[in-house]
Formats: sequence, structure tokens, C-alpha cells
Amino acid sequence: MIFYIPQDTTALALGSEAVARALQTAGIEPVRNGSRGLFWLEPLLEVTTDQGRIAFGPVAAKDIPSIIDALASDPASHVLYQGEVAEIPYLKSQQRLTYARAGLGDPVCLDNYKSLNGFKGLKKALQMTAQQIVDQVKDSGLRGRGGAAFPAGIKWQTVHDAGKDGCQKYIVCNADEGDSGTFADRLVMEADPYQLIEGMIIAGLAVGADQGYIYLRSEYPLAHKLLNIAIDRAVQANFLGENIQGCGKTFHLEVRLGAGAYICGEETSLLESLEGKRGMVRAKPPLPAIEGLFGMPTVVNNVLTLAAISTILAEGAATYQNFGMGRSRGTLAIQLAGNIKCGGLIELAFGVTLREVVEDYGQGTYSGRPIRAIQVGGPLGAFLPESQWDTPMDYEAFAAIKAMIGHGGIVVFDDTADMAAQARFAMEFCVVESCGKCTPCRIGSVRGVEVIDRIVANENRDNNLILLHELCDTMEFGSLCAMGGMTPYPVRSALAHFPQDFLLQEAAGASLQDTAGASLQDTAGAASQETAAQGEN
Ligand SMILES: Cc1cc2nc3c(=O)[nH]c(=O)nc-3n(C[C@H](O)[C@H](O)[C@H](O)COP(=O)(O)O)c2cc1C
Ligand code: SF4
Repeated sequence: MIFYIPQDTTALALGSEAVARALQTAGIEPVRNGSRGLFWLEPLLEVTTDQGRIAFGPVAAKDIPSIIDALASDPASHVLYQGEVAEIPYLKSQQRLTYARAGLGDPVCLDNYKSLNGFKGLKKALQMTAQQIVDQVKDSGLRGRGGAAFPAGIKWQTVHDAGKDGCQKYIVCNADEGDSGTFADRLVMEADPYQLIEGMIIAGLAVGADQGYIYLRSEYPLAHKLLNIAIDRAVQANFLGENIQGCGKTFHLEVRLGAGAYICGEETSLLESLEGKRGMVRAKPPLPAIEGLFGMPTVVNNVLTLAAISTILAEGAATYQNFGMGRSRGTLAIQLAGNIKCGGLIELAFGVTLREVVEDYGQGTYSGRPIRAIQVGGPLGAFLPESQWDTPMDYEAFAAIKAMIGHGGIVVFDDTADMAAQARFAMEFCVVESCGKCTPCRIGSVRGVEVIDRIVANENRDNNLILLHELCDTMEFGSLCAMGGMTPYPVRSALAHFPQDFLLQEAAGASLQDTAGASLQDTAGAASQETAAQGEN
């Protein structure tokens, strides 16, 4: 029997280290695997038996003696028995491409990685020309998973074509993962780091870059440690360094730690930080693909984008692009967090609805109370009321309702949430995290907090509502980057769909429309429709 107990950050936070020690006390040396992302079952103990790989969870150290007893007689009789891991519905119903290996074994064991199709994509890439690799990425339909959803193949083509022959180029992996409720990048780095490394090597071959950097948020110390071990072992095995696998190509890779600023996730700010400067946003153009790190052509991609590359090369562009809907191809790493019963990582083809995710997978709120609002896409994402939960998770469908998928993070709120407080929080977040370069964001967010405070205090409310909308317009259309540009999304959606939290019961009716301009009327109209849809008021 082989025992597996995860060592990823979530499992550790939930006590997996104590479980590992209890196993050792019982004379069992467990494999420390990565999590499968079923966080509501962590620590999830897995055991290989004649019936397959079975699971118990959530396990505490005190449960180990009784589990060992049950394993000797009837495992299914144990109260924490979850059956065969692969048959747990939450996992079985997923379409796992990026997370296919997550949790299967020791994440930094190179032999384990190779035995599970690892480096299959790289081996194929080594037989191809740079242009053929870029074409595969284009054909896959892969769009950047960091938020902006820009086609990865077009970005790579730009870097491939940029600069003179032999000019220095870079691959930069954006592992700053600062959005609320997100952990998909971390899970790749902690559960399957070679996959990211493989994707970055392939990117280097495709665009002619021989140096890569992973820009990692400092709050991820375990990912940092595991990435460094994996990079060392990949160097030893000649998957990194000079003359990779005898192909004559070179690719070096290093990890750099960020210092905890949300804006350093924005790609140009990230590049400034990597260069050792303060993380300030650069005006575009020039694009990083033309003038990026140290002024040289640079691919900046998210962890998930680069991780998908090894699958695309291994299984073929057509296989990848067969998943999804519309222009959103492949699979989406959905991170289910907030007030949710069964939080975790769910990988599914684009097109699943938000309702299916929160109700079928999430099983409703942790508190057991009704869900009131769902925020998708991080702290700058809109708050979606129930009337919008049937929207399929597709970049265009979300844009059509003035929302965004972003990095796929979903945060659920129950009916006790105060949405005016959440709108204020969005503005305050922008105050704290703004890089300060442009006025609409730097000053606008400070004024935004003040105006919301005045509205909630019922101080000159009608005029302040007009002011808030004008301020949101200024931030949306006048900011240099999406930090200031998208802060109005959560604010406007909270106002439109939850007006009662701004003491606007009557605002859904006549009084607001009497006093406000066009955009305010839009909000009030949407609000009254929404209130009617919810059967409230
Ligand atoms: C305020 C702000 C924060 C961002 N944070 C991240 C982040 O943490 N990780 C990320 O990959 N992209 C982030 N982005 C998006 C990046 O600027 C960039 O679009 C992305 O890294 C490109 O990679 P992709 O094409 O693979 O998505 C952020 C953008 C903004 C405006
Ligand atoms: S919008 Fe905000 S974060 Fe972006 S450049 Fe302007 S001040 Fe900086």
C-alpha cells in the first residue's frame, strides 16, 4: 500500500503535516503529493489498494489509527471513506487537461513527471521549427489566462518576428496571482511545477528566447521552494541550460520574488519590478512583445497559459481547441472560494454556467444561507445577482453583461453581505494598490470612497449618486491601465443590482430618475428590473 498526503499550501493550512507525522508514527512513510484541488476534503489521504486508489477526507491526525484498522478489514466502513478518488463526482465530471497530473504523485519527482506524459510536448517541439510551434499555439485558440484573454499565438508571433536575428529575447511568467479567490497558478506550481517549466522551454524555442523568469508573488513560499527544486533537477537532467537534450538550443530559467503589490501583476509594472525598479505601469505602445524586459522583445504570459502549452504540443492543437465555446477555446481553471460549501479547483471547458459551478460543484454557501452575489474575476470584477448566474463562462458572454472572467476566480457571498460595503472596498482597494501614475485612478479612488460614504450616510444623496457615476466614467475612460479602468465594475454592479444596500429603496423607482442623468437612469432601471427579478422590495 502506498499512502499519499498532500503538501500543498491549502492542505498544510488544514493540518496535513500533522497527518503525515501520525502516519510516520504508525511506521508508514507517505508520499507527499500535490492537492487535486478538492479543498473541502483536505487533508485528503489517498491509499493504493486492490480496489484502486481510495480516499479518506478530511482527515485529522487522530483519525489515522482507525483508518489503518479499517484498511485491514473494510475501508468503506470508515466514516471518512470517500471511495475511489477518480470516481468522486466533483473530480470525475471535470475535464482536466492542465490539472491532469495534479495530486498523482511527488510534484518534484522528475521520473514521476516523465511517467505521466511529462516532456512529451517538449520532445515534439524539439522536432519542429520555431514557426511550426507558434502555429500550433495559434491553431489551439489559446487565449491568455491572466485576465485580458489576448490570443497567445499572436503574442508569440510578434515576439518571434521582433528584433534582429540573434537579439536577446525573454520569456516572463506572470505568477503574481493577486486576484481575490484565486489559487490556480499556485496549484500548478505546487502540484505540477515541471509542466510550467516545460511550457516555458517550449515558449523559448518558439520565439528564440534563451532566458526565462518566473515572477512569483512572495506570499507563495512553498511554490518558491518547489519551483527551485524542480528547476535544479531539470538542469541536472539537461532539460534546462545549454544544448537541451542535445538539440543545440539553450534555455535558462530563474525565479524572482515580487514584494506584494497587486499592480506588479500588470505586465509592464511587473517588467519594471523585474528590472529592479518600483512597479509603475508603462504606457503602451510599445508593447512588451516589442520592447519588454530591458527593452528587448518579451513574452509575458500567465502560469496557466504557459502550463497549457505542454498539453497543446503533446496532444495537438486540434485536441485542445475541441474544448470550449465560441472564441473561448480549451479549458478554464475555475477557482471556487468565498462563502461556499465545497470550495476548490474545477477545470472545465468554457461554457459551463456560473449557476452550475456554484450549485452543482460548490453545493451552495458554507453558512447554509442563500447566495446573494457572486464576484467573478478578482477584486475588479462585477458583482453578479441571481438573474445573471445562467451566463455561460465565456469571455464574450461575460463582456456582454459588463463582467469579466479574468483569472477564473469566483467569490461567493451569502444574503448577509452588505454590497455597499463591498463597493466601498473596491474603491479602497484601488486607493491602496494604485501605482499612482495617473490621476483618475490615484485621486479618483480616494474621492470614490468619500462619495460612497456620503451616499450611505444619506448626505445629499442624489447629487452624490450623480457624482459617483461621473467619477466612475472618468476612471473607466481616463485611466492608463485596467486597475483604475475596472474599479467602476464592482461599484456600478453593486449600485445597479443591490440599490437597497445604498439606502436606495426608493431609488429603483421615481425619485432617482427624476434627479439623475442618463447613466444613473440606466443603473436605476437595471436595479428595478433586478429587484423585481429577485422578488424583493
Ligand atoms: C491591475 C492588474 C493586475 C494584474 N495581475 C495579474 C496577475 O496577477 N497575473 C497575471 O497573469 N496577469 C495579471 N494581469 C494581466 C497582465 O497585465 C497580462 O495581461 C498577463 O500577464 C498576460 O499574460 P496572458 O496573456 O497569458 O494572460 C493584471 C493586469 C492588471 C491591469
Ligand atoms: S490606472 Fe492606476 S494603477 Fe494603472 S497606471 Fe493609472 S494610477 Fe497606475
